[in-house]
Amino acid sequence: MSKPFYITTPIYYVNARPHIGHAYTTIACDTIARRHRMLGNDTWFLTGTDEHGQKIERAAQAAGKSPQQFADEVSDAFRSSWERLGLSYDDFIRTTSDRHKQGVQALWRKIRDNGYIYKGTYTGQYCVYDELYVDAAGPGAPCPDCGRPTETVHEENYYFKLSAFEDKLIRLYTEQADFIRPETRRNEVLSFVRGGLRDLSISRSTFSWGIPVPDDPKHVIYVWLDALANYITALGYGQKDTSKFEKYWPADVHMIGKEIVRFHCVYWPAFLMAAGLHLPKSIIAHGWLLFEENKMSKSRGNIVRSETIVDVLGIDALRYFLLREIVFGQDGSFSFDALVQRYNADLANGLGNLASRTLTMINRYFKGEVPYPSQTGRTPADDAIAETGKRTITGCHGLFDQYQFSRALEMAWGMVAAVDKYIVENEPWSLGEKQDEESRSRLATVLYTSAEALRIVTALAHPAMPEATAQIWAQLGLGEIKKFDLSQLQWGQLRLGTKLGEVQAVFPRADKSAVERMHKMEEQKNGGAPVAAAPLATPAAQAAVKPEPTAGARPATTIPEGKISIDDFAKVELRVAQVKTAERVKGADKLLRLEVDLGTEVRQLVAGIAEAYTPESLIGRKVVIVANLAPRKLRGLESNGMVVAASPEGGKPVLASFLEDVPVGTRLK
Ligand code: MSP
Repeated sequence: MSKPFYITTPIYYVNARPHIGHAYTTIACDTIARRHRMLGNDTWFLTGTDEHGQKIERAAQAAGKSPQQFADEVSDAFRSSWERLGLSYDDFIRTTSDRHKQGVQALWRKIRDNGYIYKGTYTGQYCVYDELYVDAAGPGAPCPDCGRPTETVHEENYYFKLSAFEDKLIRLYTEQADFIRPETRRNEVLSFVRGGLRDLSISRSTFSWGIPVPDDPKHVIYVWLDALANYITALGYGQKDTSKFEKYWPADVHMIGKEIVRFHCVYWPAFLMAAGLHLPKSIIAHGWLLFEENKMSKSRGNIVRSETIVDVLGIDALRYFLLREIVFGQDGSFSFDALVQRYNADLANGLGNLASRTLTMINRYFKGEVPYPSQTGRTPADDAIAETGKRTITGCHGLFDQYQFSRALEMAWGMVAAVDKYIVENEPWSLGEKQDEESRSRLATVLYTSAEALRIVTALAHPAMPEATAQIWAQLGLGEIKKFDLSQLQWGQLRLGTKLGEVQAVFPRADKSAVERMHKMEEQKNGGAPVAAAPLATPAAQAAVKPEPTAGARPATTIPEGKISIDDFAKVELRVAQVKTAERVKGADKLLRLEVDLGTEVRQLVAGIAEAYTPESLIGRKVVIVANLAPRKLRGLESNGMVVAASPEGGKPVLASFLEDVPVGTRLK
């Protein structure tokens, strides 16, 4: 019997159109869901839209539409965006659907019948943007969460006895340490609850866009109680057929952004406890995706839509970037430049290149059939790749289990780099030119080893990059990757004589115009305005946003002699580059000719480091180069830039390098 696994995204408000921030959460969940399906678990993946509340009612009014018409349109936009992205959700819940309304009212009745709802009068401040009752000092006072002005509410409401759950919640957070992840969020919640919980107003009577309170339809149910309940109403809670609820509840993972932690980690478990229902197993909060270091928002005009990226670079490019570039749990930044650099470095030159060179050589030298890895003439290099393969399988499983997507992919790509280096060092193309038996069997071993490594990376990366990996899998002659049982992945399973499928490039290199094209597409959708950072619309004070310098307000300063200004330094374009080719320059003992990858282009450089480094030792190494140095000729070879090295007096040069991995093309500043 396969194990049930239930994962949810937040349901998205329909006051904003879908963008890459929403896609980020949904892609992370999709990756987890695909991985669990591949591991053989009976997986259920839920997403949907949050359509009630004052915020939506007002947005509809502003658009001159009825709330339902407005919600229908935006909910459809979310669904089509998710379809376009090929997201594998099993259900899409809308809070305006009958099944949801029925479930929410059943939950209300249950909580009420258990004695946790009472009537009272509320006077205080309400933040419509956050749909949150707040402690603020009177009319118009700013919301402590988002900074927007709050509104005074004086109404007779139903209250939920949240205060009755203080101790139980504290016990939950302390006894079940991984209920909230990461730990920083758990600590925040713990100190919030330790600060004391007041009962929560859970109905409104001053507007009507919501689900009526059972037996008192003058009131509508508070939008967060309505919304949170989606996780169970979608499974049939409070409806006729509760089989899914019985099978999948409690959820294994509620994935959320860090700004809605309190609702999920305090209110939701308290509602469930009050109803006598099981609690979700874990709530995972990720960080914010910023656009070029700024929060994405309508008022800033810097919202990026997924479709733009998908049209130019494909679905996997977007998925890989979001999962690899952002350390899960922390804030991360998106930019078109960084996206294209990663795409070229890791996908076109990395996995794509490994696949096409390996498979093309198997086609050329072994008529498209996976060759036999001969035991004679085996070298330690072959065993080292097999060991890396085994380590990568265990390591990646562990990291994916911990939702450490970027580290898992980094590890898998470490293997791509190791195999690349192995191929360069073993020169299968030279072996292929020779006809003697020894060379043939060596060639067979090198190509088998490379193809097997490619298979391992492809299987491990499939949940993150479903499209390209499905193609590579088919090109390897292995059929449908979806049917592969990931839990059984081991080194050495590639069967000899496997007939390859048709070999095609999966990640064509992106040229410089890709960035421009994406910017243009976004401008057109923004009605001609460039996607750019603008000052915050409110003092909103999202903790995620870095303070910005005031534009144009740099004071005139005099530069002391012998010093340079920051602008002088900024003229020097230092970038991370990866060495692809290295060879000695004839007749020059000190010079090496290098080809280095800058993410957006490959350049030739001539460097005076031959006495310190052998050409082989440099392949795959990341170096720092001065990228905007005027070209010059050395021994008749054009050098387009300079490699940065420390040059000790009388000693050999030592290349500048990094202790952590840095994406190719990154600027040093
Ligand atoms: N409707 C509520 C959630 C109810 S869940 C019971 C809501 N909706 S929202 O439309 O504002 O979406 C919030 C979620 O979208 C975030 O928690 C996050 O998962 C995702 N994101 C929206 N913009 C984002 C970024 N810029 N960066 C990362 N995630 C973002 O809150």
